[in-house]
Amino acid sequence: MKRSQINAIMAEADAFARAHHFYLPPFAYWTPEEWRRKGPEAREIVEHNLGWDITDFGLGDYAGMGLFLFTIRNGSVDNLRLGQGKVYAEKLLIVDVDQVTPYHFHWQKVEDIINRGGGKLLLQLYNSTPEGGLDDTDVTVSLDGVVRTLRAGAIVTLGNGESITLPTGLYHKFWGAEGRVLVGEVSTVNDDHTDNRFLDPVGRFPEIEEDEPPLHLLMGDYGRYYHPGA
Ligand SMILES: [Fe+2]
Repeated sequence: MKRSQINAIMAEADAFARAHHFYLPPFAYWTPEEWRRKGPEAREIVEHNLGWDITDFGLGDYAGMGLFLFTIRNGSVDNLRLGQGKVYAEKLLIVDVDQVTPYHFHWQKVEDIINRGGGKLLLQLYNSTPEGGLDDTDVTVSLDGVVRTLRAGAIVTLGNGESITLPTGLYHKFWGAEGRVLVGEVSTVNDDHTDNRFLDPVGRFPEIEEDEPPLHLLMGDYGRYYHPGA
C-alpha cells in the first residue's frame, strides 16, 4: 500500500469514529517526530502492538479485501500464560460495504465482535477441520448471550448494538453492508504474528511504498522511529 493511502485511511477512520462519538487514545495522534523523542515510559505501546493497523492482506485491493484496525489495549502472552494482569485486548475495526476480511480463525484468542454503529456487519461461519479446512458440521455460537445453532457457512447479520462471540477454531469471514460499520473487538490477549490461521494464505501486514511522510505511525513502523535507549 502507498503511505498516502494509509494516511488518507487514518484521517477518514478518525473522522468516522468521532462522528459516532468514539475517541482514540492520545498516542493515536503522536507524530513520527514525537515518537522519536519518547522514552521507556511508552514501551507498552510498542511491545504490546497497540495502535494503527491497516491492512490489504498483501493483495493490493484495500476496498475489496482489507481492514482498518486500531489496537486500543492488549496484554501479553505472559499475562495469558500466568493468568495474571492484562489478559484482555480491545480493538476498533472499521469495515466498509463489501470490504472483506477473509476466512481465518484464532488458535488462542476468543473474540467478541460488536457492531457499535453505522451499517450492518455480516459474518460467514464454519467450524474448522483438524486439517485446517472448512467443516460441514453445524456451528454453535453465542449472540449477546443467546445461543444459536447454524448450518455450516451460514451468514450472521449484526445490526447496531449486536455482537457475536467467536470461539477458537471457528472460521470467520466478514464484510459490511448498507454503510460503513464501526466495529468493536473485545478479546483475550491478541498476537497477530502467531494467532491467525487464514484459510487461503494472505499477508497480515502490508508492504508500504513511502510516497509521502507518515501522518501517524502504524504498529509496523515503531522499530524505525522509537529508540528509547538512544
Ligand atoms: Fe478474527
